[in-house]
Amino acid sequence: MNQNDEKSKIWYNGKFIDWWDAKIHVMCHVVHYGSSFFEGIRCYKTPKGPAILRLEDHIKRLFDSARIYYSDIPFPRETVVEACKEIIRINKMESAYIRPFAVRGYNTLGVDPMKCPLDLYIAVLDWGRYLGEEALEQGVDVCVSSWNRFSPNTMPSLAKTGGNYINSQLIKIEAMKRGFSEGIALDVNGFISEGSGENVFIVRDGKLFTPPPYGSSILPGLTRDMVIKICDTLGFEVVETPLQRELLYIADEIFLAGTAAEITPVRSIDSLVVGKGLRGPITEKVQKYFFDIIDLKVKDKFGWLTFVK
Ligand SMILES: Cc1ncc(COP(=O)(O)O)c(C=O)c1O
Repeated sequence: MNQNDEKSKIWYNGKFIDWWDAKIHVMCHVVHYGSSFFEGIRCYKTPKGPAILRLEDHIKRLFDSARIYYSDIPFPRETVVEACKEIIRINKMESAYIRPFAVRGYNTLGVDPMKCPLDLYIAVLDWGRYLGEEALEQGVDVCVSSWNRFSPNTMPSLAKTGGNYINSQLIKIEAMKRGFSEGIALDVNGFISEGSGENVFIVRDGKLFTPPPYGSSILPGLTRDMVIKICDTLGFEVVETPLQRELLYIADEIFLAGTAAEITPVRSIDSLVVGKGLRGPITEKVQKYFFDIIDLKVKDKFGWLTFVK
């Protein structure tokens, strides 16, 4: 958070409030049990004003996350979509990271969350490059985590809940302590799952490979979905299949895909150089197409951008 973030308004249950008024009690359910549903959405500066990427799909996923936990976001979907646009307008932002989140509030401390109200907030941050300024061009150094992602039927990986990110924190802390920017976790069967906050793509012999949503305990990211559609447009084959860890070590290219990380090349994995240790040519083409859509240089044929004004 920076000083500008702190000047911004936060949307809270239908009203705009000051940053420092968005407070909860320490005895709220969410504080103790991670009971929250959230999204991370990017709004980009474009030649036609600010535009939000995959807005409707992010809000759909927010509602799906709540539903998996027998919960309802207490507002209609259209209201939340509108609120995400309004928060950009009211805070006069050109680009932003938008964080809608629904938290289980104050009532009882038992594990059962149902008696605790679900309050919805939307905050905006001025968030630059998630994995560092140079990351998109130079790539990042990544390790395979000693922590696994969840096994199916433990934590639902399709739900983006606060509690899930305790596992992500372990992956991230371990990676940083060992001097890497990010960690890639394996699933419980030892196949590649995902980064602490990104999906993974491997390029080998001109083809792309990524773990499938079923079995590999990934959050099926919207950036992942965009990469797959961009590859289809560019004529690159993408195979969604369980991937052995060692494919990382013999990959021509690896990249991470996520709203925060965007499309970030991996230049080394477990201290082995990937390809030439630079952003690979296929990664570059996919990344370029992605940013060309945002810069309105190519047609947004998929309807991914929602203009705020
Ligand atoms: C664990 C995890 N996997 C994947 C992703 C990528 O998802 P998206 O591209 O929708 O941001 C994220 C980011 O939200 C994440 O937290």
